[in-house]
Amino acid sequence: MEPNNAPLNESLATNRTSDAGAGEAITLRTLARMSREHKRFTCLTCYDATTARWLDRAGVEVLLVGDTAAEVILGHTATIHAPLDFMVEITAAVKRGAPRRVVMADMPFLSYQCEQGDAIRNAGRFLTQGMADCVKLEVDRSFAALVEQMARAGIPVVAHVGSRPQQAKMKGGYFSAGRTAEDAVRIVADASAMEAAGASMLLVEACPPEVTQLIVERATIPVIGCGAGASCHGQVVVLQDILGLSDWQPAFAQPLAAVGQAIQAGATAFAELVRAGKLPGKTYRMDQAEQEKLRAMLRSGSDSHAAH
Ligand code: KIV
Repeated sequence: MEPNNAPLNESLATNRTSDAGAGEAITLRTLARMSREHKRFTCLTCYDATTARWLDRAGVEVLLVGDTAAEVILGHTATIHAPLDFMVEITAAVKRGAPRRVVMADMPFLSYQCEQGDAIRNAGRFLTQGMADCVKLEVDRSFAALVEQMARAGIPVVAHVGSRPQQAKMKGGYFSAGRTAEDAVRIVADASAMEAAGASMLLVEACPPEVTQLIVERATIPVIGCGAGASCHGQVVVLQDILGLSDWQPAFAQPLAAVGQAIQAGATAFAELVRAGKLPGKTYRMDQAEQEKLRAMLRSGSDSHAAH
């Protein structure tokens, strides 16, 4: 083999997505069965292929491409800034990273609240272009007709009830929900209406456990909780919050790892190497013979064509 065609050394040639997809394939049916068998499942937010691979290895059943991407990835202060095209693109990235996990795509603000036809087409994009297994919509019972239409079209819907961050402007901020008897009754009824409309799963955010318990007791579909008590079939939080990457996180999602500090330490170590004129990995090599040939070429001036 000619030296110039030699393979890169091992560490340079490694395929960064080499073992994506190992392990048991999880589907919505798997989650329904687990719920019936009282086996709890895990859901974490995920916004890229590399992280998806690690979550797959950790056995996380569901990866939520949340509109929290607007905050966590894009640096906005609210989820309503998540762009539709961007969400579809990163959903596909997550599925490529973890093809055997359930990927749930969050439908961003105004991608489903306007015209029903647009909502269904946008949801369809998440399934076809984004390769998602289901879409999540922040809803109350007024969305029943839309959820029904989506289910009829073959689009599995996760109905997100309780606290709904896309409503933050209306409410004047992010708040918990269901803390008065009236609000609790409303949320339990919303959840039932969504199941009746054909939702495949429910997600309850920031509600007291007593309210969530009522939802779980009435539901025949899996219920995922997000700061809503332990009675749910599945639990979700924003990954960055539990990895110790967020500067602030909700009280129900305290850090379980110090990844932020690990990033800082790794970057500091690299910066120190760079400043000292050192390199952290291997370099490409040129054979002795090629080096001599190069020197001879430079001496004889026969490299002149390369300079033009
Ligand atoms: O967008 C998101 O990350 C969410 C979870 C917090 C449930 O909707």
